[in-house]
Amino acid sequence: MTEPLRVLVTGAAGQIAYSLLYSVAKGDVFGHNQPISLVLLDIDFMMGVLQGVVMELRDCALPLLHEIIPTADKNVAFKDIDVAILVGAMPRREGMERKDLLKANVKIFREQGECLNTLAKKSVRVVVVGNPANTNAYVAKTFAPTIPPENFTCLTRLDQNRAAAQIAQRVGVTSQDVKNVIIWGNHSSTQFPDVSHATVTVNGAKSSVKDVVKNDSWLQGDFISTVQKRGAAVIAARKLSSAMSAAKAICDHLRDWWTGTADHWVSMGVPSDGSYGIEKGLIYSFPVAIKPDHSYSIVQGLPISDFAREKMDATQRELVEEKNDAMQTVQD
Ligand code: NAD
Ligand code: LMR
Repeated sequence: MTEPLRVLVTGAAGQIAYSLLYSVAKGDVFGHNQPISLVLLDIDFMMGVLQGVVMELRDCALPLLHEIIPTADKNVAFKDIDVAILVGAMPRREGMERKDLLKANVKIFREQGECLNTLAKKSVRVVVVGNPANTNAYVAKTFAPTIPPENFTCLTRLDQNRAAAQIAQRVGVTSQDVKNVIIWGNHSSTQFPDVSHATVTVNGAKSSVKDVVKNDSWLQGDFISTVQKRGAAVIAARKLSSAMSAAKAICDHLRDWWTGTADHWVSMGVPSDGSYGIEKGLIYSFPVAIKPDHSYSIVQGLPISDFAREKMDATQRELVEEKNDAMQTVQD
């Protein structure tokens, strides 16, 4: 029998977790032969709600769900984990930018970085979802110096999925037919959704998105701003931030990290190694290729136009500012 994988979800009583836990526990992420020990962390105040979530998970009668450990104790939550899905943080409300959450959230990620450092397996893989996700991942990585930096990632897959869905809708295909969309930079309104290397398959024939869409002003204008502002549009409509699509994106991110990407790339916020002139160490979203052993590499050698360069630098500048503010806040 395969050893259970110990998977921590923080913010487990919140709205993203409610859409996420079923898919993780059912086997859609780590495979249908992989038993799961699900560790669910939330704050003391939410333990009653979390009990309800635990009841529902049990009532799903899922064969791979080996055990469920609900807790408000970080020392229990982070012990010996293989995977950390760090969702627990305050969401933004209408009119806010994600970086406005820095003051409220960044200390959570210092504390959780320290817990990862002392309690988790050294091979732990981390995906930060709580906003501002790139900078929170940077902080967690900084406070976990004994864990390989490349094990820290943040979620920009939701942006990739949004971009692919916009193209698919425009062309009249499904998102599956759209490959190699890139999200560069920050999970914020300065992100650069880039389709200049993307392909779309229509009636069995694969072509560049640019050739099929045949509308550069849309691709360089409304397409980009729709993806950049999609989170805010969902908040304006729902009065709550995205949860179902965020949970789906977390599953996509982790499933690809676990099983590999074969013939295409995906976007993840990862520590920069200096590729494309991006400051080393910054958690910046790049196109990555992933092998089945969970190792990934930033896709190299893509030609970068002047238009792209300007956008990649703008989102980098925002990340550097956020990083400096965050490091100041966590030291206070
Ligand atoms: P939510 O308010 O519904 O749930 C958050 C949960 O986290 C709550 O149950 C809260 O008690 C818990 N929590 C707070 N502090 C905690 C701590 N220190 N340890 C453990 N749990 C803690 O929010 P949500 O809608 O689930 O969103 C969670 C975060 O994810 C927000 O910051 C949101 O902005 C972000 N988000 C990111 C993306 C992305 O693509 N990166 C997408 C959607 C939402
Ligand atoms: C999103 O992209 O939907 C999330 O980051 C939530 C938000 O604040 O926009």
